[in-house]
Amino acid sequence: AAVPLAASAGCVVAQSSPPAPGAAPSGKFTRTLPIPPLADSAVDAAGTRHFALTAGTGSSEVLAGRTTATWGFNGSMLGPTIRARRGETVAFAIDNALSEPTSVHWHGMHVPARYDGGPHQAIEPGARWEPTWTVNQPGATLWYHPHPHGSTEKHVYRGLAGLFLVDDDVTDAIDLPKDYGVDDIPLIVQDKRFTSDGALDESDPTDVGLLGDTVVTNGIAGAYLPVTTELVRLRILNGSGGRTYNLAFSDDREFRLVATDGGLLSAPAALRRLLLSPGERAEIVVAVRGGSDVVLRSVPADDRGGLDRTAATQFGFTDTLDILELRPERTLAPSTAVPSVLAPIARLDPATAVAERDFELQWFMINGAQMDMNRIDFSPTVDTTEIWTVRNADNWPHNFHVHDVQFQVLDIDGSPPPAHLTGWKDTVYAPPGRRIRLALRFTEYTDPAVPYMFHCHLLLHEDQGMMGQFLVLEPGASLRPMRMGTSAP
Ligand code: C2O
Ligand code: CU
Ligand code: CU
Repeated sequence: AAVPLAASAGCVVAQSSPPAPGAAPSGKFTRTLPIPPLADSAVDAAGTRHFALTAGTGSSEVLAGRTTATWGFNGSMLGPTIRARRGETVAFAIDNALSEPTSVHWHGMHVPARYDGGPHQAIEPGARWEPTWTVNQPGATLWYHPHPHGSTEKHVYRGLAGLFLVDDDVTDAIDLPKDYGVDDIPLIVQDKRFTSDGALDESDPTDVGLLGDTVVTNGIAGAYLPVTTELVRLRILNGSGGRTYNLAFSDDREFRLVATDGGLLSAPAALRRLLLSPGERAEIVVAVRGGSDVVLRSVPADDRGGLDRTAATQFGFTDTLDILELRPERTLAPSTAVPSVLAPIARLDPATAVAERDFELQWFMINGAQMDMNRIDFSPTVDTTEIWTVRNADNWPHNFHVHDVQFQVLDIDGSPPPAHLTGWKDTVYAPPGRRIRLALRFTEYTDPAVPYMFHCHLLLHEDQGMMGQFLVLEPGASLRPMRMGTSAP
C-alpha cells in the first residue's frame, strides 16, 4: 500500500551537487521522528511559570550510525518545546555553557525589548540571563533561537533552536488535532551538510548562506512518523538559515493551512504547495489513509519563488528534498473534520496609520545601510499603526522579519495577499521586485532605551548586517540616545 518511492527524488538530491558522503540513502526513512519534549516548568505562588534552559554542546546521531558534534538547549541538539498560556507570566533562567557568547530570542513573541534576546542581550559564557514577561498574544507556534551579533547562522545551524507554543481560549476550544506528539506534531525543519566523517560541514556557503543537501527534521535525517489518527496537524518551522522550502506531499494531495506565524487563520486554506522561507511557521492539517505512506517534501518552487533561472538553481529553489514520511497504521482513530471557521482576525486599518516607511533590501543592506548596534533607525509611537513597504531590490531571495509585533500583509504590488498571507505574520518572503505593504501596530510602552530588530531572516544576511533597529516610544517622547554597547539588564 506504500506510495511508490521510485518516483521520489529521495532525501539527498540537490540538483547541482552530488549527495554528501554521509547523507542518508535516497528514499530511506529509517528512524522514528523524535518529538522534542515539552519543557519542564514550575509555577510559583505568584502564578509565574518558571523554565530553565542551558545552551551547551553535545553529540547527536543526526545521520543513522554516525556521530555529529552539535549544540542544543538542555540536550545535545535543538531544545525542548516551551508551552505557556496567554495571560501567564513566564520566567526563564538561561545558562550559557558554550565557550562563546550567545543569546536567546523569542521569535514572534511580543516581549519587552530588554528581554527580547537580540544582539544587545548577549549571555557571556558561564553567565545566566533571566528574562520574564507576561504572554499577551493569540495562541501560536513561535520559536526561540540565538541572536548573537554576527553569528546567528552558526548557532542555529549547530542546533540551537526550539519551539514556543502559546495556547489561549481559542486554540483550546477549536476542533483541531491537539494531542502533542500524537496528532499534533512539531516539525523543526533544517538543512545540513556533512563531511565524510559525519561532522557538520560549515564550509562553502552560497550568497544566501550554507545550503544543505540533507533535511534534518527534529534533529535527524530520514525520519518517519507513525500516524494513528485520520488527521494529523503538523506545526512546521523553517529553522534553516538560508533554504526556502516549497512544501508538498509526494502524491500532491491537498492539505489545510490552519495557522501561520502569529496564530490561526480566519478560515483554513486548501493548498497543495506552500512556500516557507527561513523563520516562518505553518500549521497544516493533512488527512491520511490507513496503511498508505506519504512523504512531506520540498519541491521546486512554483514560479521559482520569483527568481530568475540562475538564482533559483543557485539558491535551492529548484531542489527536491524529502522532509518526513508519514506512515499511517492500518486502522486509524477517527478525527473531527477541520472546522470551516477558525479564529477572528481584527484587521488593522491602514487609514489610521500615522507613519509610512520604506525598506529596500539590497546587497546585505536595508536602505543602503548595514546594521550598527549604535544606530536607531526610527521609533514608532506606542498604540499607533504604521504601514511599512518592503521591496527586494536584488535578484536574490530575501525575507523580512520584525521583532515585537505580528503584522498583517495589506497587499503585494497592490493586489490582496494570497490566502497563506492573510493571517498574523512576523516574517514574510520577499520575491525580487515585489512591493509588499505591511500594517503593524505597536502596543505597550516598554523600554525606551532598548531597541527591537528588523531584518532579513536568511541568517547569513542578518549576520552580514541586513538588519536595523527601532525603539517603541511613548507618545511625545523623542528618540534618546541609548546606552551604547551595553547589555540591557
Ligand atoms: Cu528569528 Cu531577529 O529573529
Ligand atoms: Cu524575531
Ligand atoms: Cu536576505
